[in-house]
Amino acid sequence: MNIPNISKDAILNAFQYRHATKEFDASRQLTDEDINFILSTANLSPSSFGFEPWHFVVVQDPELREALKPVAWGAPLKLDTASHFILGLSMKAPMTKWDSDYIMHMMKDVKQFPEDVIEMYSKFYREFQERDFNLDSDKKLFDWASKQTYIALANMMTSAALNGIDSCPIEGFHEDKVNALLQEKFGIDTNKYGLSYMVAFGYRKAEPPHAKTRRPLEDIVTWK
Ligand SMILES: Cc1cc2nc3c(=O)[nH]c(=O)nc-3n(C[C@H](O)[C@H](O)[C@H](O)COP(=O)(O)O)c2cc1C
Repeated sequence: MNIPNISKDAILNAFQYRHATKEFDASRQLTDEDINFILSTANLSPSSFGFEPWHFVVVQDPELREALKPVAWGAPLKLDTASHFILGLSMKAPMTKWDSDYIMHMMKDVKQFPEDVIEMYSKFYREFQERDFNLDSDKKLFDWASKQTYIALANMMTSAALNGIDSCPIEGFHEDKVNALLQEKFGIDTNKYGLSYMVAFGYRKAEPPHAKTRRPLEDIVTWK
């Protein structure tokens, strides 16, 4: 494994370059290699206990994109112009609760833990959920999974920017309506998954209308 050696200037330049792209150049498409690279950075993202409580749906079917418009006020222009449009789904309680089949599958088949490690990890995970983090409702469990799915979002957008690819994160949607649509038209089991965000990728149609604004670093960091 090589030690990464990208200059700080290059990384900061990518952070400056990234902006929430309102409209993409519909004539420009990402290659399969580009989108697989972006998805790989989601896949390599960290998650609590390493349980990867997410799923990504790449929506390229024009009919499905059209169906999303009425329930996603923040998305229509991106749905029309983005090269690739992704739904970031997070797992719900039946998947992420400490004693679920999915968690057992992760420990046994993906991480290939031996029996004694599974037993120890399960105990740990149960205590974390029930005692430390008070994940005592379906809503809390979903929000906790969602936090992690947002880490993958940030990584996808940053890796895209590092390659000169634009993006826009989207939370402008009606949660209940969009989840009903996912169940009905996308074949997603919404007992197991819920939508955390949408994210569009492509190439900007125009430069951003204004320079990036941020609070000064001193306002957001406290040193003790
Ligand atoms: C979680 C999240 C949800 C967002 N939802 C939308 C959205 O629905 N539509 C949109 O055009 N921009 C959306 N944005 C973009 C923000 O408005 C934008 O990131 C912010 O104003 C800072 O601008 P910049 O990203 O260009 O630096 C969202 C950003 C985040 C992080």
